Amino acid sequence: MQTLWDHRFAQRTQKMQSSAIRELLKFAEKPDVISFAGGMPAPDVFPIEEFKNACIKVLEQNGPACLQYGSTDGYVPLREMIARHTARYGINVTIDNILPTSGSQQALDLIGKIFINRGDRIIVESPTYVGAIQAWNAYGAEFIPVPFDENGMVTNELEARLRAGPKFIYVLPNFQNPTGATLSYERRLQLIELADRYGVPIVEDDPYGQLRYEGENLPAIEVLDSQTRSQTDCYLGNVIYLSTFSKILAPGIRLAWVIAPPEIINKLILVKQGADLHTSTFNQIVAFEVAKRGFLNEHVKIIRKVYKERRDIMLDTLTEHMPEGVNWTRPQGGLFLWVTLPECLNSEDLFDEALQEKVAFVPGSSFFAEGGGNNTMRLNFSNARPEKINDGIARLSKVIKKHLARKGMQISK
Ligand SMILES: Cc1ncc(COP(=O)(O)O)c(C=O)c1O
Repeated sequence: MQTLWDHRFAQRTQKMQSSAIRELLKFAEKPDVISFAGGMPAPDVFPIEEFKNACIKVLEQNGPACLQYGSTDGYVPLREMIARHTARYGINVTIDNILPTSGSQQALDLIGKIFINRGDRIIVESPTYVGAIQAWNAYGAEFIPVPFDENGMVTNELEARLRAGPKFIYVLPNFQNPTGATLSYERRLQLIELADRYGVPIVEDDPYGQLRYEGENLPAIEVLDSQTRSQTDCYLGNVIYLSTFSKILAPGIRLAWVIAPPEIINKLILVKQGADLHTSTFNQIVAFEVAKRGFLNEHVKIIRKVYKERRDIMLDTLTEHMPEGVNWTRPQGGLFLWVTLPECLNSEDLFDEALQEKVAFVPGSSFFAEGGGNNTMRLNFSNARPEKINDGIARLSKVIKKHLARKGMQISK
């Protein structure tokens, strides 16, 4: 329906839609719904006591500075801590390589603001993180999807797409949102080599890298990229790396960081001034207080234990309940797994009935920049309590079986 305001909104808003996930979360929030929908960390692992103590301490010791405006560059001790943390993974960075942002979501938006002209092409995995599509649609980006399998982006398919002159490549290397897949070591190397050869930067979005429950850690793309260059004290390579405190501390503090060459950080600072002046001073100081002296390392161990248990329960109950023809990924970490239904089913058609059964998921089509994935769905395993997971998967499989029966498919199990 046309409204009085339609012709007044900027053209960039025309392609904007509220993300399906945000809309679905409204239903999923109802207390009687078992939600495998949002990407929520488990509230039971939030370090509430530590935050409470840190708030009191920093207000008593440093009250005026906590509550004052800060610099756009961010709180220096926090940036130093991130630099030390990064150095442990074998990459030399200085605080000039680091910018705290109001969540990685803001970093994605600022990256769009400094790089994307209307019609610019961005290479994305297919499927990819819906929040990036949303952020970059606003700048008129065109997306070039690259096929994706259980080892991440199919880098053998990349070269033809690089010839189209993309602005950058967006990649989620670890326990990808939405599929849970991890980019293999060989593909990381191939990606770096190709990106370098074609002079195309890589945006590496890594909110889940620390949440590995089994298998060997793989080096970040930025680390591998830095190894191909002559060593300097400051990172000057081809990768813009994003990570966040959302999944290892708490998303409510909206605190994340970018690691990139200083030239890019300076440009991001410039546009961040126009966006929000700076990331919350109070949140940066409190998060630093909570995270310092090794707390984060210990806390992440607890999170891994809790989420691994939930992942295992979800995998077991999927095996127990799902009919033949339904397949799913077995992520080694992160928050999500990805279900593929028989081709004849559309997960969006299942959604309402699933809600009537009081279970929620995210239809997979939301994660495809250029359409597709109708028979897929994303399930989050971090947020539902173990005893609910079995129940929720049983309800979901009931809905799937009903839809298969309607299509005249034989159901075994
Ligand atoms: C891949 C990816 N990037 C960015 C974000 C946004 O994170 P933040 O809470 O730091 O804004 C998320 C959140 O789920 C994500 O999954």
